[in-house]
Amino acid sequence: MSGGTERAFGFAWAFYHEVIPLHKEQFAGWITPLPLSFFKAKRFLDAGCGIGRNSLWALEAGAASGLAFDYDERTVGVARRNLAAHPACEVRHLSVYDLVADAEFDAVFCIGVLQHLERPADAVRNLARALKPGGTLILWAYAREGNEGYLRWADPLRRLVTSRIHPVLTLALARALTTLLRLRLLLPHGDPYLALLAKRSFRHTEAMVFDQLLPHIAHYWTKDEMLALAEGLPLRVTRLTHTHGMSWTLLAEKL
Ligand SMILES: C[S@@+](CC[C@H](N)C(=O)[O-])C[C@H]1O[C@@H](n2cnc3c(N)ncnc32)[C@H](O)[C@@H]1O
Repeated sequence: MSGGTERAFGFAWAFYHEVIPLHKEQFAGWITPLPLSFFKAKRFLDAGCGIGRNSLWALEAGAASGLAFDYDERTVGVARRNLAAHPACEVRHLSVYDLVADAEFDAVFCIGVLQHLERPADAVRNLARALKPGGTLILWAYAREGNEGYLRWADPLRRLVTSRIHPVLTLALARALTTLLRLRLLLPHGDPYLALLAKRSFRHTEAMVFDQLLPHIAHYWTKDEMLALAEGLPLRVTRLTHTHGMSWTLLAEKL
């Protein structure tokens, strides 16, 4: 179990269920510096797949087969629909804590999931076991570094209010905050991340804000905490990237 986080996401995914081209750009950013073509001919595991948007780009990049799973049943239903054109990808209702796979996958990715878990280390152990020797683990999670200002005001709001009220109310608040954010984007700024946000539609920005406000658990890890996830496991960290200056992409090879 993961402390109720998955139920909250189920609500979000039932609402924001469509895969859009911008998600491809996002996924490419999250797996940086690997190119999407990295997935060509590989068998992958997508842990905590949400609506299946990341699996979709891996499959379109030529992956041979995949297994995408999520703990939330509604979400799994959406992912099955979004991946219906790719029978080589199985979509399963499963918790990462119950994953039993041994040396089965060339690539294992877990995007935006670990930071919401009560026991991330247990999850990474299962993911590492699922990899073939020489296979690649890709973990993306929020960073503490780069989010200090955000953490001062938004994280208390999430912890004390928005993760506790009904998601419908959180959604209304997300809409109001998104409106403010969009107004801010109209003013001149030299911030590359704001420039990236300005390219998104209102709905997509709202989905992102909602996603931030909803979970009961949201860890923002330091560089050392992120690296510690791979410690004591048969993994060699090959690269840690401070993605967009506010998140971590950890790449590791299975020994
Ligand atoms: C922020 S979403 C990210 C989804 C997807 N990886 C993406 O990038 O679109 C986090 C996902 O983790 C899932 N999740 C939470 N706890 C889980 C668990 N114990 N096992 C598997 N998935 C879980 C949630 O249901 C949710 O879909």
